[in-house]
Amino acid sequence: MTDILNRDTITTTNILDLNIITPMYIPWDTPKLPKYKEAKVGKWAISRTPSKKWTCGYFLVKEYQPKGYVIKYDNQNVWMSLTAMEIESHMPHLDAAHGNVVVMGLGMGFALYNIISKPTVTKVTVVEQNPDIVSILEKSANFKTWPGYHKVNLVIGDALKYTPEPNEEVDFLFADIWPHMGDDNALSDTQQMQTNIKAKKVGYWTQEWDYVEYCRKDKFSFSKSNDIETYREFAKINNLPLIEQDNPCYPDLCFAAITLQLAGGEKDPIKKHMLMDRYARFQQSALVKACQSFG
Ligand SMILES: C[S@@+](CC[C@H](N)C(=O)[O-])C[C@H]1O[C@@H](n2cnc3c(N)ncnc32)[C@H](O)[C@@H]1O
Repeated sequence: MTDILNRDTITTTNILDLNIITPMYIPWDTPKLPKYKEAKVGKWAISRTPSKKWTCGYFLVKEYQPKGYVIKYDNQNVWMSLTAMEIESHMPHLDAAHGNVVVMGLGMGFALYNIISKPTVTKVTVVEQNPDIVSILEKSANFKTWPGYHKVNLVIGDALKYTPEPNEEVDFLFADIWPHMGDDNALSDTQQMQTNIKAKKVGYWTQEWDYVEYCRKDKFSFSKSNDIETYREFAKINNLPLIEQDNPCYPDLCFAAITLQLAGGEKDPIKKHMLMDRYARFQQSALVKACQSFG
């Protein structure tokens, strides 16, 4: 318990000045950020984003978000940006990576940077369909010089068709090929990838949306109790050996994340307040379960 309470990922905040004071908890290590510089390749550009005060991360409310970087196509379509939301939403997957890993989607290489630096990771196959993404990342971040890059097998191809070498055992598959969180195709695309790869563990970006949807009965109510058994059932029913099945606080953190995203987009102050109040309850429940599981 002392260990959990000492983590720098627990903070207490008066959320967005709404007079809701809650501890905020996540059990994963804070990732490292690669260094980028502004660059252009064809219609792709990596450019700076401004700093922000009081913003929604994915699991946490952030008092301050420093300047970051974004990758855009044709100066408008954002493919990826290193905001608090993006960084936190990768955390469970970075934590789960070990052994022989397949990463679907290079993007800004943020996941790759963190995964290859882990001593427990032996090989990383990264599948990216767009050669311009590889070129711009080389120009902006010189990614082939990153610590641990000797473990990388870079494949230019379609994530939905990639198959490993015959007899190659993949320990972990991380899929992130979608521009927006909660993409309708994310679950079925991941199932398609897993049919080809047969990884021992699987995680896909913002999978928390699909778990929450699984628990939902209609717009206003839930037909399933939100606990680790339900999350395991969600994984089983979808034929995916999903990450976090032994983490009793993960289901609450899924609900906290999605409630926080909804609150962040809510304009009506009363509805926003209600959503933030629910977010605080999920966060508190996650922390209680984490404390209980550590005795
Ligand atoms: C959101 S970005 C990935 C961000 C990445 N997780 C990171 O840490 O920076 C999605 C990437 O997936 C790639 N992509 C999209 N569809 C793909 C597909 N079918 N096969 C392979 N790569 C794909 C895009 O070109 C883009 O580079």
